[in-house]
Amino acid sequence: MEYQEKEIHKSYDAKLMWRLIKYAKAQWLILLISILMMFFITGVDLVIPYVTKIAIDDYITPVSQTVYLSEPGDSRTDFVSNGKGVVFPGLIERTFDRTVYENKGQIYKTGSGFLLIDGTSKNLSSSGAEVVITPGSIIIDGVDYSTTPLTESQIANFKTYNKSQITLLTLILGLILLLNFAFSFVHTYLLNYASQKIVYNMREQLFNHVENMSLSFFDKNPVGRLVTRVSNDMENINEMFTTVLVTSLKDFLLLFGTVVVMAAINFKLTVVCLSTIPLVLISAQIFRTKARAVQREVKVKIAKINATLAENISGMKIIQIFNREKSIFDDFDVINKDFLKSSVQETKVYAIFRPTMNLAYSISLSLLLWFGGGDAIMNLVELGVLVAFITYTQQFFRPIMDLSEKFNIFQSSMASAERIFMLLDEESLIVNPEHPKRFEGEEFKGSIVFEDVWFSYDENPKSVDDYVLKGVSFEIGSGESLALVGATGSGKTTIISLLNRFYDIQKGHIYIDGIDIRELEMENLREQIGIVLQDVFLFAGDIKSNIRLHDKSISDERIKEIATYVNADTFISKLRKGYDEEVTERGSTLSAGQRQLLSFARALAFDPKILILDEATSNIDTETELLIQDAINKIITGRTTVIVAHRLSTIQHASKIIVMCKGEVREVGNHQELLEKGGMYYDLYKLQYKDH
Ligand SMILES: Nc1ncnc2c1ncn2[C@@H]1O[C@H](COP(=O)(O)OP(=O)(O)OP(=O)(O)O)[C@@H](O)[C@H]1O
Ligand SMILES: [Mg+2]
Repeated sequence: MEYQEKEIHKSYDAKLMWRLIKYAKAQWLILLISILMMFFITGVDLVIPYVTKIAIDDYITPVSQTVYLSEPGDSRTDFVSNGKGVVFPGLIERTFDRTVYENKGQIYKTGSGFLLIDGTSKNLSSSGAEVVITPGSIIIDGVDYSTTPLTESQIANFKTYNKSQITLLTLILGLILLLNFAFSFVHTYLLNYASQKIVYNMREQLFNHVENMSLSFFDKNPVGRLVTRVSNDMENINEMFTTVLVTSLKDFLLLFGTVVVMAAINFKLTVVCLSTIPLVLISAQIFRTKARAVQREVKVKIAKINATLAENISGMKIIQIFNREKSIFDDFDVINKDFLKSSVQETKVYAIFRPTMNLAYSISLSLLLWFGGGDAIMNLVELGVLVAFITYTQQFFRPIMDLSEKFNIFQSSMASAERIFMLLDEESLIVNPEHPKRFEGEEFKGSIVFEDVWFSYDENPKSVDDYVLKGVSFEIGSGESLALVGATGSGKTTIISLLNRFYDIQKGHIYIDGIDIRELEMENLREQIGIVLQDVFLFAGDIKSNIRLHDKSISDERIKEIATYVNADTFISKLRKGYDEEVTERGSTLSAGQRQLLSFARALAFDPKILILDEATSNIDTETELLIQDAINKIITGRTTVIVAHRLSTIQHASKIIVMCKGEVREVGNHQELLEKGGMYYDLYKLQYKDH
């Protein structure tokens, strides 16, 4: 089915990835900067809980705090206790100046006050030491230290110091966060910029590729599908670059970093936190498979809705003419309900996954509080560690959740990438020859020769019946006019398409000025030929732009001149805004005859040596028909013309008339000769003019 998303067997296709990365190469510097910034940002994420830990354990609820002991009279002494100068190690000294003081002491918080210990014991600050306090001394794990109680004023001095340290920490933290904010902004901006740029380049390449495909490609690929490629699939890839690729890298980094930092702080609590990992992994796996299935389902359904909408809205006129509103609506309702069902299904999968993850997180948190809280009460672990772990646990679960959800986006982007690359790899069947010939300036005369041309729209025709043209031969000299007539489906439009090399023929030759058109540069060939197609296509825009087709070298005056020449000016100047009047796509606001006259002007604006005219089959009022006929007579003078005519009145002056029948040339001659012959042309003529 057309809407079906192709199943990709390997979820990660290295080849696809490699091709995508090649597009990213042009943006490597931006991506590199942005990834480096990501390291910083992740680092800050990891540091913040740690700073909290320092604040709590070292300054808010410290069991003991190391100080320096100086000789009395030292200018930096904060206070003197029992003949010893006490110096608080500020954040700065701690890093730069720690060797200045050789003797260290500890301020120890007891139930009733603070003691200054002469000397330090690592065991005291670590949890679980055996401490015995006697007046004037403290025994830590069997080692005796002398102590002095701090006075009220000394305690106040000490607390003030701790408060100032907290302030300093907060300031540093604030600064880091500010920097982090700036980095995050630049990081996000650069990342999105690079992704958009990559997708921009890809989209341009894709459009350019589609633009240059041969028409047979468009016969096979419905417009809707191509539009989806360029819009939806491209958007998926954009999403992959922005939300998946680089942020996933950040998630992994954060996940890994969190575990490392946690393990470094406290191994036992880390194990406690990670004990729910099996639950997480199992549910993530289940989620991934389920979500993938429903997401694919939703995508298929939304594609169906879009296609149905597009088709029905463009065919609304027919729907209303035939009173099909109700039945079409019912059809739409079925599709819409289907979509709703899958969407609800998708919601369900997500609605189960997120709470499951939250449950795992809550279990981890409870276990943490249970073990960690118990240990904190027993003084086996510092309070700050516990607080930091609570944050780290949260930080650990978030990327897991994100990664599982992003995995699906990643997979569907890979599917999109595959489809886009498939399209890009499709080669145009019609390409320029290796050494193309060109007509320069005036050397082009415009004679046309068809020599035993066999053509089938099927690239590998099996039987004669598959051929639309069966051995067609004819020739017209430069400046002559050729008319093609014949029943519908006899191959007239096909001949025109071949002349412009929209398709390549299977057998025979088409020569223009004696050169096989397959040896000519395509752009050069098409430059020489102006075409007025059977159904005139107008682009959304104004009348002017539809005549000049983005060729800036054609002036407004010239447009008016040409329009007047082909009798189009009369109706254009009656429009409210004249040449600036907006026309809609397909030109539904203009009549068929008006569109035809407009297309004459368009073809003539480029002053081609060869003019091809595929007359509209629709009926046109007599007045417009006269205008058109007059216009045709004017524009065929001085150039080689091929006219496909449905109204024989148009072509009575043609130098040569070819009657086509089922892909073969049935009769050739001018108007008079063919009438005298009394064959098919004569019959056609009689049929059209029996009332006259
Ligand atoms: N793009 C296409 N792919 C496949 N078959 C095509 C395509 N275009 C035309 N045909 C077939 O080729 C045959 C000739 O079509 P063509 O458009 O040349 O007829 P025509 O003489 O211009 O008819 P009309 O007078 O109705 O415009 C028809 O049988 C048609 O079904
Ligand atoms: Mg036709």
